[in-house]
Amino acid sequence: MKDKIFNRLKEAHLKDKRIFLRADLNVPIVDGHITSTARIDACIPTIRYLVNSGAKVMIASHLGRPSSEQKNLEFSLKPLATIISKKLEENVSFRSDWIDNVSFRDTKVVLLENVRFFPGEVENDPLLSKKMASLCDIYVLDAFGTVHRRHASTYGAGLEAGLTCAGFLIEREVNFLTKVQENPIHPVSAIIGGSKVSTKLDILQKLNSNVEFLIPGGGIANTFLVAAGFNVGKSVFEKNYLETASNLLDGGKIVLPVDVVVGNSTDSSEGKLVSVANVKPDQMILDIGPKTALAIKMIINKSGTIIWNGPLGLFENPVFSGGTLAVAKALGNSEGFTVAGGGDTLSALEQFGVSGLDYVSTGGGAFLEFLEGKRLPALEMLKRKVVN
Ligand code: 3PG
Repeated sequence: MKDKIFNRLKEAHLKDKRIFLRADLNVPIVDGHITSTARIDACIPTIRYLVNSGAKVMIASHLGRPSSEQKNLEFSLKPLATIISKKLEENVSFRSDWIDNVSFRDTKVVLLENVRFFPGEVENDPLLSKKMASLCDIYVLDAFGTVHRRHASTYGAGLEAGLTCAGFLIEREVNFLTKVQENPIHPVSAIIGGSKVSTKLDILQKLNSNVEFLIPGGGIANTFLVAAGFNVGKSVFEKNYLETASNLLDGGKIVLPVDVVVGNSTDSSEGKLVSVANVKPDQMILDIGPKTALAIKMIINKSGTIIWNGPLGLFENPVFSGGTLAVAKALGNSEGFTVAGGGDTLSALEQFGVSGLDYVSTGGGAFLEFLEGKRLPALEMLKRKVVN
């Protein structure tokens, strides 16, 4: 039997207990509107279970990356109180000043203002951690998207608390992703899109030694194309990573686009389909073409496990969304084990209305670092708090 890696919520006595629930409510907001509630939805089962068990719940989260020197209300969690309340069908009160005392009055659930408004949160300040822990009887971590952060609310407070448990989302994410990381069904394919090789270098290197097919997309694919000797015109690529890309290409697992959709700029209202060898100096690659999408679909169909992170083109612009849509649909219909993660990837799935994947992670950086096999501070903290 494997060692216990966290205390489970179902083992805890919750009645009349004060819970500090660290969730990840870092939802995408465009022009003041929340464009995906996936992260809110994902923590509802834990909150509902806590309430039904007779506990009082303080929900804490970060939103964005505000400076702790000035409370920029653009990053306030206040608007989320109404959304959580509707989803839970339970009154949720908002508390802007909460570090010294949290009162519940006539409510069972309170949403606390952005933890990153406190100096010391991202530095894992011990005093701040202690203060957070002293607000509760039990600390519950359900913020999978933030397990790679050693912050006061994700790490220090959990260490300080009397009892610390994992929420249901953490359990689910860890179970699914462990299966993919430790015991995937081969052949394994990984589709890694996004703008820069530099931000995904660790995962690309890790996957290059563990998977059978590695499919780069977006700006990452452009860097590989240049390393392979193609002209990418005005497209985004990273000069400093050409040698790295070239070394990765030597592994023989990278599948490059054969046709692409080009435009003059990112807000182009027209796209042109060209062979990857015919990109002109004034053109930008903004999507993969149908031949490439078909080749990827064929790889997906013969894979036992497929990992997806990052779009294959500028999917927010309908002119350049075809490649990402085709790949999302192929994943939704695949018989292999399909797992996706990352903010843009989730937005693409929601925008296209594609479902049917086996697992969609709420993590972005955390999802990638988990698959890289890195030690994640908040999960290490949960392990240190195990009570046998
Ligand atoms: C995410 O969006 O990946 C998580 O919420 C973590 O956010 P951060 O990168 O600002 O720590």
